[in-house]
Amino acid sequence: MAWSSFDVGTGAWESALTNTESPGDRIVSFLIGQFGLLWIDQQKRLNFNVDVVESEWGQGANLDILESKLASDRAHTIKAICIVHNETATGVTNNLVKVRSHLGEHSIYFSSLFFNDRGHNYNEALLKNLSF
Ligand SMILES: Cc1ncc(COP(=O)(O)O)c(C=O)c1O
Repeated sequence: MAWSSFDVGTGAWESALTNTESPGDRIVSFLIGQFGLLWIDQQKRLNFNVDVVESEWGQGANLDILESKLASDRAHTIKAICIVHNETATGVTNNLVKVRSHLGEHSIYFSSLFFNDRGHNYNEALLKNLSF
């Protein structure tokens, strides 16, 4: 499993995905607000197969759905997980430690990529908890 995290920038989203994934690859992408929406729009325009998990805006990502998708993906079709850490538009912070823990529970996912748009929310303690 690889880890990619970056501060801000639509260009960073694009370069991270296009340098590691191929058109048609399945990406599980969480939508909880405007920046997730913009990222997903970009993923679709780049011709990825985007599996959107939307929660009501103002709420955090539904990570139970991630868990069940990972558990049922025996053919390992999920090539990347995309999640905004702090959704600037709503102020909601997603629980990346829980995402990391779900990935660890499904060790089959060692070759998957975990993309996190960290926004302005640099947090060294969090990064330690996410160690791979
Ligand atoms: C969480 C988050 N992601 C992405 C962006 C997009 O960054 P940029 O406008 O530099 O492309 C922003 C901008 O505020 C943001 O807050």
